[in-house]
Amino acid sequence: MHINSADFLCSNTDITKCPPANKPEYAFIGRSNVGKSSLINMLVQRKGLAKTSGRPGKTQLINHFLVNEEWYLTDLPGYGFAKVSKGARETFTKFINDYILERTNLVNLFVLIDCRLEPQKIDLDFMNWLGDCGIAFSMVFTKADKLGKQKLKDNVSAYMNKMLQFWAEAPVYFISSAEDTTGRDDILNYIETINNNLKES
Ligand code: GTP
Ligand code: MG
Repeated sequence: MHINSADFLCSNTDITKCPPANKPEYAFIGRSNVGKSSLINMLVQRKGLAKTSGRPGKTQLINHFLVNEEWYLTDLPGYGFAKVSKGARETFTKFINDYILERTNLVNLFVLIDCRLEPQKIDLDFMNWLGDCGIAFSMVFTKADKLGKQKLKDNVSAYMNKMLQFWAEAPVYFISSAEDTTGRDDILNYIETINNNLKES
């Protein structure tokens, strides 16, 4: 897919104030600092479109972007960030849950996983919850540039084996790096294929 345009639309915590649910939407979620905002900038090749930071907890709102005037891309706050106060964390969780459960045009959630880490309970619990709720998702292993080829391969296959403990069929997954653009074509082609299928149906 060629990216002709990528525009920021709005930020909020209220699903009723999100843009009209009339275009296919793809959202990016995962632990704080996993690289959601960086991946979005890499996909649309616009540095600084989504705000990034070395410190976790940067993205705190639901941020909508419009790509090629055709589909929405959504940057979400991270989960599992201990430094946000418990009250703030509960509010976070509530509006993110509402968004995931109620956003009718959400066609796929990309769940980002840091490729360097062993499977974390918080991510596994989150994906199992998505499964229970019937939310379509795929996985993206981020920061692939931080590992050597063999270690990356081993970590990803160990993670996907772990997924088979919970799932009869493992989800689609991608390997990405915002540094060297690994995974860009695969993820964009995946989105394009879904968009085309939706147009035909
Ligand atoms: P929150 O908004 O806080 O939840 O974080 P986020 O998931 O949006 O992460 P963000 O994109 O802000 O990136 C966090 C840090 O990881 C930044 O310092 C990025 O430069 C770095 N980072 C993100 N992606 C990559 C990557 O693919 N490779 C490397 N080496 N660093 C990355
Ligand atoms: Mg972010």
